[in-house]
Amino acid sequence: MKNIVILISGTGSNMAAIVKAAQRDAWQEKFDARVAAVISNRPDAKGLAFAAGQGIDSAVLDHKAFASRDAFDAALSELIDRYDEPAQPLLLVLAGFMRILTPGFVSHYEGRLLNIHPSLLPAFPGLHTHQRALDAGCKVAGATVHQVTAVLDHGAILAQAVVPVLPGDTADILAARVLTQEHLIYPQAISDVLQHF
Ligand code: GAR
Repeated sequence: MKNIVILISGTGSNMAAIVKAAQRDAWQEKFDARVAAVISNRPDAKGLAFAAGQGIDSAVLDHKAFASRDAFDAALSELIDRYDEPAQPLLLVLAGFMRILTPGFVSHYEGRLLNIHPSLLPAFPGLHTHQRALDAGCKVAGATVHQVTAVLDHGAILAQAVVPVLPGDTADILAARVLTQEHLIYPQAISDVLQHF
């Protein structure tokens, strides 16, 4: 069985969309794959309850309990690798995981580590993407699914969705419009990856 481990920090709506797609599209039968675990770096992440309710292993690894980024990433890796079965590829999916990962961690999972970012990369890497798109006068905005490399919000682009920027948009309104598209492209991109995994 190919295990998918999803990392979250908050609401986890992308994670929920992935879990629902896995059920709806029968990833277990089609790809021999399942969402095995959801891990949050924040104890208050809402998505944890959804994952537990679906019978998925859920865990909290509070980054505040660690003295350094390296120590946190080492503990995170240890937790994730419990799902790394011999001869079965593991896919690590960042879904609103708001931590910068160390180069060592990223290289350990290179080629099997995906992220979704709420902008049309390479535009607006980093934070506050929707406000920055509005400030720049963009007429379209969107989201990008990409492979993760050691460079923040970089790496091969696997999927993008474009939405219009409309008169009167605030960052919150635009974020909500983009998020509905994230819920479509992220499960689809993962499904595409699983086909060749
Ligand atoms: C999503 O919009 C995702 O693209 C973004 O956080 C939100 C998480 O929502 N990710 C980043 O900004 C990563 N740098 P969710 O918890 O409801 O999936």
